[in-house]
Amino acid sequence: MKIKSAKFVISNTKPENCPKPDMPEYAFIGRSNVGKSSLINMLTEQNKLAKTSGRPGKTQLINHFLINDNWYLVDLPGYGFAKASKSERKKWEEFIQKYLNTRENLITTFVLIDSRLEPQKIDLEFMEWCGIKGIPFAMVFTKIDKLSSSALQKNMAAYKKEMLKVWEEMPPVFSTSSESAFGREKLLNYIDQLNEN
Ligand code: GTP
Ligand code: MG
Repeated sequence: MKIKSAKFVISNTKPENCPKPDMPEYAFIGRSNVGKSSLINMLTEQNKLAKTSGRPGKTQLINHFLINDNWYLVDLPGYGFAKASKSERKKWEEFIQKYLNTRENLITTFVLIDSRLEPQKIDLEFMEWCGIKGIPFAMVFTKIDKLSSSALQKNMAAYKKEMLKVWEEMPPVFSTSSESAFGREKLLNYIDQLNEN
């Protein structure tokens, strides 16, 4: 799929203030610093569309970007930010859960996983929660430029093993690098396919 245009629309904390749910929408979620905002920039080929930072906790709001004037990409704040206070974490949970549970045009959520790490409890629990709530998701292993392909295969296999303890089958799985743009075409084609259905 070709990205002809990508425009920032609105940031907010309230799902009810999101744009009218009249176009397909795809959200990016995962731990703070996993590379959600960078992936949005990589997909849209716009370096500064979503704000990124070396420090976790950069994205704090629900950010809507309109792509090709007919679908949305959504950048969300990360979870598992160690420095967040308990009340901040609770606030995060409330508004993100509300967004994921109520957003009627949300087609799929991409759960980003740091490809360098062994399976993380917080990510497994989040995906399990999506399963319980019936929120469709796909996994995206990020930052694959930072490890060898054999280490990547090993970490992906470890995730698969953990997932299959709970799930009957694996969700769609992607691997990406926002540095090299690896995985861009596959992910965009997947979205394209879903847009057509
Ligand atoms: P929060 O908004 O804080 O939740 O973080 P985020 O998930 O949006 O992460 P962000 O895109 O801001 O990236 C965090 C850091 O990781 C930045 O320093 C990025 O440059 C770096 N980064 C993101 N993706 C990649 C990647 O594919 N490869 C490499 N080498 N670095 C990456
Ligand atoms: Mg971010």
